[in-house]
Amino acid sequence: MPSIGQPKPFMKSTCWSADISGHLHATSSSNPVTVLMVGIGGYGYFYLQTLFELIPADQARLGGVIDPLAKRSRHYPRLLQERVPVFDEIEEYFRAGYHADLAVIASPLQYHVDQSCVALNHGAHVLCDKPIAPVVQEADRLIQTARNAASWCMIGYQWSFSRAIQELKRDIRKGLFGKARRLKTLIFWPRDDAYYHRNDWAGKIKDADGRWVLDSPANNAMAHFLHNLFYLLGEEAASSARPADAVAELYRVHPIENFDTAICRAHTECGAELLFYGTHATQCEQDPVFHLEFEDAEVSFGETTPEITAMTRDGESRVTDRRRTIRSSRSYSTL
Ligand SMILES: NC(=O)c1ccc[n+]([C@@H]2O[C@H](COP(=O)([O-])OP(=O)(O)OC[C@H]3O[C@@H](n4cnc5c(N)ncnc54)[C@H](O)[C@@H]3O)[C@@H](O)[C@H]2O)c1
Repeated sequence: MPSIGQPKPFMKSTCWSADISGHLHATSSSNPVTVLMVGIGGYGYFYLQTLFELIPADQARLGGVIDPLAKRSRHYPRLLQERVPVFDEIEEYFRAGYHADLAVIASPLQYHVDQSCVALNHGAHVLCDKPIAPVVQEADRLIQTARNAASWCMIGYQWSFSRAIQELKRDIRKGLFGKARRLKTLIFWPRDDAYYHRNDWAGKIKDADGRWVLDSPANNAMAHFLHNLFYLLGEEAASSARPADAVAELYRVHPIENFDTAICRAHTECGAELLFYGTHATQCEQDPVFHLEFEDAEVSFGETTPEITAMTRDGESRVTDRRRTIRSSRSYSTL
C-alpha cells in the first residue's frame, strides 16, 4: 500500500482515524480537522471541491491554500469570501503561525517531496498525490522524514485504495488463485497539445529551475495502473512486490522532452512477469484493462465487461462489481 509510516490516530482529538486501507473514518465531530490544500488548480480543484461539498464543516475545515496561481482557480472567490489564508509557498503558511492536521499535496510532482517534508516536520499528516517523486533519491528522503515524524504520509493511488482492488488483493494474498505468473495492463489515453501546454512542466525532463520532473504516462496519468500491478502482488496489505529486473521501450510522438509511450516488462522477486503498455500518442481511446494470469485462475478487468472477473481453472466464476471505481477513474482521466 502506498503508505509511509504506520497509520496512527488521525489527530489527538481522534476526530477522524485512518485504517490500513487509507479510508478515513469520522469518530467525533467536536474538533474539525484543519486541512491545508497545496495546489488547487488542475487535480487539486477536485480535492477542494470535495472538501467544500462532501465533507461536513464540523468534520473538516480548510485552514489554508498554497498555490502561486491560486487566483486562477474557480474556487478563488470562495477563498476570498471565507478569508482563507493563501500563500505561494508552504513555508510561509507555517511561518505565519498557522497549523494543519492534514496537508493535501496536489502540486506539480517536482514539489511533492519538499512540500510533504515541510508539512510532516510541522506535525501535519500528509496525503500526497502520485507519484511520490520523480527520482528514487527524493522518495527515500520522504520515507526517512515520514519515519522520523509523528504523523503519516500516504500517496494518492486511489485505484489501489479502492474497495475493488482491496478485495482482489485479499483473494490473491489468501492464495485463492495460486502463484502469480503474468500480469499485464494496457491504456490508450489520447492527449493533445493543450494537455502538454496546460502548465510549464508537462512532458518535461527537468523544470526551469533544474528540478527533475520526468513527466510521462508511466509516472503521471497512468501511474495508477503500473503501480497497481506491483501493489496487487505485495505480500502485506500495505506493501507492493518489488521489481527484480525491468526493461522498457520508450517512444516520443508529441513534440515534448520526455516520452509519451512506454512498453515495460518487469519481473518481481517472486518471478511473476509484469507487462505495462501505455500511450498518449493515439487516436483511439482505451481505458485501462488488465489481465492477470495465476497458476489456478485468470483475472480480467475491462476487456469485455466493466467488472473485475476471476475465472478459476475449475470454472468457478467470482465477479466483483467495479462500476463505481471505473466511473471515478474515468473522470480523473479527463484532467
Ligand atoms: N490521482 C489522480 O488521479 C490524479 C489525476 C491528475 C493529476 N494528479 C496529480 O496531481 C498533481 C498535479 O497535477 P495537475 O495535472 O493537476 O497539474 P497542473 O499543473 O494542472 O496543476 C497544478 C496546480 O499546482 C499549482 N502549483 C504550481 N506550483 C506550485 C507550488 N510550488 N506549490 C503549490 N502549488 C503549485 C498550479 O498553480 C496549479 O494550480 C500531479 O502530481 C499529478 O500526478 C493525480
